[in-house]
Amino acid sequence: MKLKTKTMEWSGDSLKLLDQRKLPFIEEYVECKTHEEVAHAIKEMIVRGAPAIGVTAAFGYVLGLRDYKTGSLTDWMKQVKETLARTRPTAVNLFWALNRMEKVFFENVDRENLFEILENEALKMAYEDIEVNKAIGKNGAQLIKDGSTILTHCNAGALATVDYGTALGVIRAAMESGKRIRVFADETRPYLQGARLTVWELMKDGIEVYVITDNMAGWLMKKGLIDAVVVGADRIALNGDTANKIGTYSLAVLAKRNNIPFYVAAPVSTIDPTIKSGEEIPIEERRPEEVTHCGGNRIAPEGVKVLNPAFDVTENTLITAIITEKGVIRPPFEENIKKILGV
Ligand code: MRU
Repeated sequence: MKLKTKTMEWSGDSLKLLDQRKLPFIEEYVECKTHEEVAHAIKEMIVRGAPAIGVTAAFGYVLGLRDYKTGSLTDWMKQVKETLARTRPTAVNLFWALNRMEKVFFENVDRENLFEILENEALKMAYEDIEVNKAIGKNGAQLIKDGSTILTHCNAGALATVDYGTALGVIRAAMESGKRIRVFADETRPYLQGARLTVWELMKDGIEVYVITDNMAGWLMKKGLIDAVVVGADRIALNGDTANKIGTYSLAVLAKRNNIPFYVAAPVSTIDPTIKSGEEIPIEERRPEEVTHCGGNRIAPEGVKVLNPAFDVTENTLITAIITEKGVIRPPFEENIKKILGV
């Protein structure tokens, strides 16, 4: 079995990833033939977005088995998992996907067709992701009124998943159900996922989109130009606190102040049942050049000190609802999340 979407292609012996660093100007694929190349692609953000990172790592794990040469296979696969896990710390889907692959590995370690078994699991995960996003879209579309303008942050679209997207999946599903929707996309400094990726994929689909700078959102809300905020998530704690791209927290505060619903759209696999509150979510710190430079050009004086947390945490009290494939979760979040997870 094979897989081919815009974001990724699995041919049976390599994984091709759309190089998201080069969008929107160049559409080019990077071919990963080893698990190390896959780890590099995740770390360097050739591929990004929580669900896409998870599925990519799963294919990396499959390639890791093929990279095995001698010695203990079990030790080798532990090392493969470690290499893939050490790439990005915040999106829990990465660890969720690797744990799922490892479980299948241990259950079938003596089987001759172990490669096919692991490959099938990664493919299953990839196809499931598309189905899950469509279900998130369907559940979320019911919350969106005809004629709405939706603000989104970062890119939680087809590019951040195997296909269709989570937050952008809600927008797509609302439109497929006949509603007229307009999108405001935050440019999302410093990495510009909004300006470069969200705008690119929505324009390709013919969806009306305006790019705005991050600091415009508050004013546009105050002027009554935004009806709902819909964002994705990288990790959701048991109490509903949500880690997502830096800037999400500010939007949630602004939305509360302006009485605008703030929705998080994410698969259940983004909920981390081992984490009680947002305080415990590890936040990735990325390199200073992402802040001191824009489009390859330096914009701040050389030698300046830099902070660059890639994510922030929005506390549950600022979230109207979490839209998952299993339904819309509303407060009290802890109680309702536990119900959905069955824990
Ligand atoms: O640093 P990135 O681009 O991987 O961050 C992506 C986000 O924050 C997304 O909103 C999140 O992963 C959800 S993607 C469906």
